[in-house]
Amino acid sequence: MLTNEAIKELVGTQAAELVQSGMTIGLGTGTTMEWMIKALGKKVNSGLEIRAVSTSMASSQLAMQYNIPLIELNDAARIQLAVDGADEIDPELRLIKGGGGALFQEKMVAAAAEEFVIIADHTKLVEQLGAYPLPVEVMIINWKQVEKQLINLLDNPLQLRMKKDGSPFITDHGNYIIDISFGAIEAPDALNEALHDIPGIIETGLFLGMAGKALIGYPDGQTEWIERTG
Ligand code: A5P
Repeated sequence: MLTNEAIKELVGTQAAELVQSGMTIGLGTGTTMEWMIKALGKKVNSGLEIRAVSTSMASSQLAMQYNIPLIELNDAARIQLAVDGADEIDPELRLIKGGGGALFQEKMVAAAAEEFVIIADHTKLVEQLGAYPLPVEVMIINWKQVEKQLINLLDNPLQLRMKKDGSPFITDHGNYIIDISFGAIEAPDALNEALHDIPGIIETGLFLGMAGKALIGYPDGQTEWIERTG
């Protein structure tokens, strides 16, 4: 039986095979993506010619260690493929993302990509989104107003994301994250719209209708492609 880390390595390495010379690719964030970046780095060092748009400082640093050429999203004429991890994946390939706090740039890159692929271990598959707290990225200025609006809108516990040292977590873009506990999200589209209507919310961790397919790894070493049907 494979450990979770070994499953992440399996899907990360397999996803690197999707990348061909000449592509500009989106590099997601997280522990699963670290394996893909490492696998891609080896291919780049053996002659694969690609350019990459990163979704976080952490992924940029790792990509640079492996000599993967990076460009800014603004400078990418096209992104043929973006690959990323997820915190939850439902049967329609709707996602919760942002556990690592990189949801804003992850969504920008996913939206810009011609194909958006998820890589994950089987524990990320859920029947219904919401057991994992939903992250929303909010501007620091006036964040308490956003919190008030969220309390008015929802009947769910909210938490400003904190670091281990007790200070608030700050995203790569200089914002805060509020994590909202739902348990179950009945209507993800309506929720996403309602959240976006609150001034000061920059982005939500709901990725709806974006992922075209997901590569899922299992403890027995098998992998499976799940495609979005709708
Ligand atoms: C980063 O902000 C997240 O969206 C990650 O992609 C997500 O948390 C999955 O991360 P792991 O691969 O580490 O589980």
